[in-house]
Amino acid sequence: MTATADVLEEYLESTADRRMASYEAFLRIPSVSALPEHAPDCRRAAEFLADDLRAIGLEHVEVLETGGHPLVYGDWLHAEGAPTVLVYGHYDVQPPDPLDEWELAPFEPLVRDGRMLARGAADDKGQVHMHVRAAEAVLATRGRLPINLRYLFEGEEESTSTNLDRWLEQNKARVAADFAVISDTGFFEGNLPAITLGLRGITYLQVDVIGSSIDLHSGMYGGTVQNPANALATIIAALKDPDGRILVPGFYDDVVPLSDADRAAFAALPFDEEAYRASLGVPALVGEPGYAVLERRGGRPTLDVNGIWGGFQGEGAKTIIPGSAHAKISCRLVVDQDPDRTYELVRAHILRVAPAGVRVEVHELGGGQPSLTPMDHPATQAAARAIEATFGQAPLFIREGGSIPVCASFTSILGLQVVLLGFTNPDDKAHAPNESMVLANYETGIRTIARYWEELANLPSSPAR
Ligand code: BES
Ligand code: ZN
Repeated sequence: MTATADVLEEYLESTADRRMASYEAFLRIPSVSALPEHAPDCRRAAEFLADDLRAIGLEHVEVLETGGHPLVYGDWLHAEGAPTVLVYGHYDVQPPDPLDEWELAPFEPLVRDGRMLARGAADDKGQVHMHVRAAEAVLATRGRLPINLRYLFEGEEESTSTNLDRWLEQNKARVAADFAVISDTGFFEGNLPAITLGLRGITYLQVDVIGSSIDLHSGMYGGTVQNPANALATIIAALKDPDGRILVPGFYDDVVPLSDADRAAFAALPFDEEAYRASLGVPALVGEPGYAVLERRGGRPTLDVNGIWGGFQGEGAKTIIPGSAHAKISCRLVVDQDPDRTYELVRAHILRVAPAGVRVEVHELGGGQPSLTPMDHPATQAAARAIEATFGQAPLFIREGGSIPVCASFTSILGLQVVLLGFTNPDDKAHAPNESMVLANYETGIRTIARYWEELANLPSSPAR
């Protein structure tokens, strides 16, 4: 270890308690972007981050209005001649329900078995916090950073980044950089270090099936009117065949087929299907015929019901024909599927297959483009070296099933390559009760980030740009 690395390590070790306290304080803010009642909490989380950035010595720190939950910006631009990196993460989190399944409570962080448990511990407050702590440690021990950094932290990622594209379009100069780093992904099964190259896109819609203006007595009216819940079931059943192939006409038209090289890359990953199945507690894995599990997850599109409601939900029996029934449905998309076009195709199919006797409304709730980033980019290779130097193991290169809408936007709007440098453990329970971050990933990841800036500073001047 070099002398400067020693000093950094000493700093990180001597500030570990303070770091945990700050991580927990950040997690205590219930910044749920989807729920309007948490809008003030989203703003509080943004202010918390802005204060944190100012305290560690970043400049031009601002909480920026977008029309939705605010952005947080801050920069350090004094490494003349070195690359400029745009670092993105999100401070908003998914809704915490069901609350009674949490060991403690979603916004009361709990350290247990080497993990931090709380909503957002991994996705994505933990990783945002890691970036700020890495910059803090480097600035505190060296007085400067080896590269130029611009931080952009968002508060609407979990709600499809509704206002971000417009802000990027209007503020290109403000976030000008050589490339972008997004820390909102994670390691591969078995907690093996990984760099994500592919993310799926998404289109999200709500279906409202409306019958009578009130619930009806199912004895008096059953058999004479359409039941909205039955109608919704008919619609949903018409979206996929029993094998899982999506029946929406045109749905697969723009799907770029997996190449032999893509398939070989999936097949080369150390993946144990049975362990994966058992870890999920499901009796069997299912999916599109002709594709392996990892291909289905990272390289093929899906259509899933995310929620369905209507009619009587209480205990016992209540004999009604519900006045309405509803579903939230989303499709994960792969290159070159377009979220808006896919939405139109699904919507048209739903309206076509809807039974008579009910009114069916379909609304788009948001979307994001899929993305694929090249493995041979110098900034990606530098990230791989930083991971190997700190985690002691070269990263795998993977394609993931989740979505980060801004990833494609950084390329299409700002023209930036993106490196997906993420540190969460695959069993992090993101979006579910007892979400957790393995603290060893968090701690070592901070060292990786600091090391990464060094690797970037040492690149021969042009290729990273
Ligand atoms: N961190 C995830 C994205 C992710 C998940 C990447 C799994 C790799 C593997 C992100 O915060 C997320 O959950 N995004 C949403 C986006 C959606 C609401 C537009 C998602 O994927 O559901
Ligand atoms: Zn996330």
